Amino acid sequence: MKERISKYLQEVENFKGESLEQLEDFRIRFMSKKGLIPALFADFRNVPNEEKKEVGQQINMLKNAILEKMSSLKDKLTSSDEKTRDTIDLTLPVDSQVGTRHPLSIVRNEIIDIFSRIGFSVSEGPEIEDDFHNFTALNFPPNHPARDTQDTFFIETDPDILLRTHTSSVQIRVMQNSKPPIRTLLPGRVFRNEAISARAHCIFHQVEGLAVDTDISFADLKHTLYYFAKEMFDKETKVRFRPSYFPFTEPSAEMDISCNICGGKGCNICKYTGWVEILGCGMVDPNVFDNCGIDNQKYTGYAFGMGIERITMLKYQINDLRLFFENDIRFLKQFESL
Ligand code: PHE
Repeated sequence: MKERISKYLQEVENFKGESLEQLEDFRIRFMSKKGLIPALFADFRNVPNEEKKEVGQQINMLKNAILEKMSSLKDKLTSSDEKTRDTIDLTLPVDSQVGTRHPLSIVRNEIIDIFSRIGFSVSEGPEIEDDFHNFTALNFPPNHPARDTQDTFFIETDPDILLRTHTSSVQIRVMQNSKPPIRTLLPGRVFRNEAISARAHCIFHQVEGLAVDTDISFADLKHTLYYFAKEMFDKETKVRFRPSYFPFTEPSAEMDISCNICGGKGCNICKYTGWVEILGCGMVDPNVFDNCGIDNQKYTGYAFGMGIERITMLKYQINDLRLFFENDIRFLKQFESL
């Protein structure tokens, strides 16, 4: 018994304990329920009476040595942990990937910035819409073929609920909920059931604009878009309007800009015409005002809508729309500094 105790005592004195894990193993070896100290106390019963006093003192001494060792090692190990923490240099440059904005976000922000300089706010609405806001209020009569021009994703169980095909639905929400004067942008994600190709996708992004006030004319619309084209592309950019049709605007137009790739000389981007279409626009149809409770005798307004993908492709000369949705780091990294 005495030999065992002195062997353990030796072991305790020699124990270095270089980590908290080693210290825990040490505690388990000696002090846990099935450890060596409880075993010693259990065997103590068999010690002859005349030796009990001496052996008892030795066991207690061993136990105290263990407790002392554990507490001093614990102090040492935890404080050295703190010391290493103090020596971490937080000012060292980090070797990691820098996050970048997606090119579509960069261009959306730029569009918003350009129009906010002339007083436009930003309004947003839901991506899951009802027929009224996406079509009916925008002067698409029921069963009218114009609905077919926007290949709509319907929610199967309820033909009244659909994924919005354009952010014009938000024009309706804004007009229902506020009074003129209105001057706001409507950016957002839209959905059309189209085959995915280099030029089309079933998800894309639009920014529309809406201005409603007394005395708003087509000249205001033209000049606003003229300003936009020069800010977005460059000062030399030319603009032209072609008559078009949308159920919710009358008259309607599409706007082209001079091709910024070839400078108007003709290339495969502009299909050798020197012009590229960038948006649809027009004067808000009086029926639309009616549907939103705005007095169409007192107010006039204009609206326009553009695809962010298209503007981004022209601005950065990207020739495949699918690149925006693949999140290929080699593509995204090129926009790091913007
Ligand atoms: N909503 C139309 C589209 O998605 C664009 C547009 C908006 C046209 C506003 C005219 C006025 O094609």
